[in-house]
Amino acid sequence: MGWAKYARGKLSLPVITGIFCALAFIVLLYTERITTFSSGSLFGIKTCPRRNVAKIKKHHIGNRELKSSPLDNPTDDRFEFDPEECSLNTGKWVFNTSIKPFYTDRTCPYVDRQYSCSKNGRNDSDYLHWEWKPDDCMLPRFDPKVALRKIQGKRIMFVGDSIQRNMWESFVCLVQSVIPESQKSMKSGPVHSAFTAKEYNATIEFYWAPFLVESNTDIHIKADPKQRIIKVDSIAERAKQWLGVDILVFNTYVWWMSGLKAKALWGEFANGEEGYEEFDTAVSYTLALRTWANWIDSTIDTNKTKVFFTSMSPTHQRNEDWGNMNGIKCFNETRPVTKKEHWGAGSKIDMMKAVTDVIGRMKVPVTVLNITQLSDYRIDGHASLYGELGGKLLTDKQKADPLHFADCIHWCLPGVPDSWNRMLFAYL
Ligand SMILES: *[C@@H]1O[C@H](CO)[C@@H](O)[C@H](O)[C@H]1NC(C)=O
Ligand SMILES: *[C@@H]1O[C@H](CO)[C@@H](O)[C@H](O)[C@H]1NC(C)=O
Ligand SMILES: *[C@@H]1O[C@H](CO)[C@@H](O)[C@H](O)[C@H]1NC(C)=O
Ligand SMILES: *[C@@H]1O[C@H](CO)[C@@H](O)[C@H](O)[C@H]1NC(C)=O
Ligand SMILES: *[C@@H]1O[C@H](CO)[C@@H](O)[C@H](O)[C@H]1NC(C)=O
Ligand SMILES: *[C@@H]1O[C@H](CO)[C@@H](O)[C@H](O)[C@H]1NC(C)=O
Repeated sequence: MGWAKYARGKLSLPVITGIFCALAFIVLLYTERITTFSSGSLFGIKTCPRRNVAKIKKHHIGNRELKSSPLDNPTDDRFEFDPEECSLNTGKWVFNTSIKPFYTDRTCPYVDRQYSCSKNGRNDSDYLHWEWKPDDCMLPRFDPKVALRKIQGKRIMFVGDSIQRNMWESFVCLVQSVIPESQKSMKSGPVHSAFTAKEYNATIEFYWAPFLVESNTDIHIKADPKQRIIKVDSIAERAKQWLGVDILVFNTYVWWMSGLKAKALWGEFANGEEGYEEFDTAVSYTLALRTWANWIDSTIDTNKTKVFFTSMSPTHQRNEDWGNMNGIKCFNETRPVTKKEHWGAGSKIDMMKAVTDVIGRMKVPVTVLNITQLSDYRIDGHASLYGELGGKLLTDKQKADPLHFADCIHWCLPGVPDSWNRMLFAYL
């Protein structure tokens, strides 16, 4: 069920509440390092009441006990990963305390404070010990040295929003531990950042483009969602910076989700931003994706460049979705959802369909890193109260109000994005 459907019907109260909550969550996105805009005041006008609080005292998340017994799976007849044969989508999270992340937010200097949950005071640690196990095959473990050899002499660039930066920092942190101090460096900028592994002559880069196409709000952020206009046919100016890169990993999703409709503009005319058209979000999204697809198809040399697209990263704003009626968004969640094929309202099916349709018609093969299903289980993986707001850690007063201040969009590092990179690693 998508925004489009909501928009045609009569808006019911929960939907309207949902929209307000969506606005509250979009504020989190607009507090990137890239801007000095302070969002604190916006929260004052938002009302985001707890819905259905304690109406039904249903038991939590099915059976939530940890399943880690090796007896679960006495004969493992899964095959080695083969991209043609195996879907990484269907599987389960297995708890395994002998899994230790390759880094922590203290040992890896490149984790933004926004994702440094442990440093910011998160003291539960189970979320670090879950491993994604596809049903049909064995996903190879991430191996930093092998990963570096695979990108030797190459540039890999993550392009997209703050979730993509989440993934980029995870990748950098996963490999940096095996590189001596003198052989690595980081150059950070507001739009473009690059980590260099000198002995491998490789760079791992991030490029800020939250809609992929241009807009009037991604560099100079507009606080009022009504003023945001997305130039659905403009990509060339930004995309110049993507030329010559060997591995491109794109995403775009969560910035689109600020309302039922998105304002789309195309062409450059003297009347500036006046000639926009308002469409259901999925329609504007499709137009922008087509622009991106055209650029790829007309520009990319498939002999040189591999293209990936990371599917939408789920948000966990509605605890009702996973049956925790007494919860508050993702706050205080410490275990994944175990219900098979759990799919929350934070993952819009019409947006996913737009991606499938557009990519399906492209000439250049694009590998979809389909992280949506596996991440949707991970209500425990978000920054929650241990992230940042407007470039600052949360105050105690804010921490006491998780309904408004818990970040259930971004992910702790180390954490869930490490598994996305494990997936990427398998395809490299
Ligand atoms: C847990 O991880 C260890 C070390 O990586 C591995 O040997 C073991 O098979 C894993 N156990 C399960 C149940 O997956
Ligand atoms: C973890 O932090 C919470 C408050 O943030 C505190 O109540 C709890 O005692 C802490 N637990 C441990 C094991 O330190
Ligand atoms: C390093 O990689 C770049 C491409 O990223 C390439 O142009 C250059 O020739 C490489 N240099 C060496 C010494 O391999
Ligand atoms: C890509 O490589 C193939 C085979 O190596 C070659 O036939 C083709 O011309 C190349 N395409 C481009 C655009 O260079
Ligand atoms: C967090 O969850 C634990 C049980 O998992 C509970 O004991 C604790 O009271 C909760 N904390 C808050 C602030 O709700
Ligand atoms: C990703 O996986 C889901 C199922 O988990 C599927 O519905 C969706 O179509 C897939 N998306 C793409 C772009 O392949």
